Amino acid sequence: MEKSFPIKYEWDIVAIRKSVRELAREHGFSELNQARIVQSVSELASNVVHHAVEGMVQVESVQGEGKAGIRIIVQDFGPGIEDLDQIIRLSESPTSMEGYGLKQVRELMDEFSIRAVDGKGTYVSVTKWKDESDLRPSD
Ligand SMILES: Nc1ncnc2c1ncn2[C@@H]1O[C@H](COP(=O)(O)OP(=O)(O)OP(=O)(O)O)[C@@H](O)[C@H]1O
Ligand SMILES: [Mg+2]
Repeated sequence: MEKSFPIKYEWDIVAIRKSVRELAREHGFSELNQARIVQSVSELASNVVHHAVEGMVQVESVQGEGKAGIRIIVQDFGPGIEDLDQIIRLSESPTSMEGYGLKQVRELMDEFSIRAVDGKGTYVSVTKWKDESDLRPSD
């Protein structure tokens, strides 16, 4: 399964949130994990709108050893991030309030990686694996 959505305007994020929630639900994620996934993609897409110009979201299913999940890639062709190391440190720091968006995404998802090339753009990949809460038939 692979789906992609363009990001350019703030309102694109509304449609992306809706579609990604639907995909996460189809994957069998619990409502709580659906919310975590939607929040993450929303933060990353909002970074594209605010810090780059336009980009896209790609959603795909992934299989690990004895596990299944969803991977979301958000990339743009904006300016990249000059001080990426600093941004990564901030997102890892337990105290910083600066750069809260990426920090939140890192905490909400199971895997997080970010790459940026000056003047060429930014690429963020996040993965959520299904856990026991997703196996309960409650929601
Ligand atoms: N797609 C991107 N293109 C260029 N720079 C980016 C991109 N995403 C993030 N950045 C840079 O990384 C910084 C940290 O991003 P982060 O989302 O953590 O915080 P923020 O967007 O500044 O604030 P918040 O998300 O809390 O509203 C941004 O201030 C920006 O400088
Ligand atoms: Mg942000």
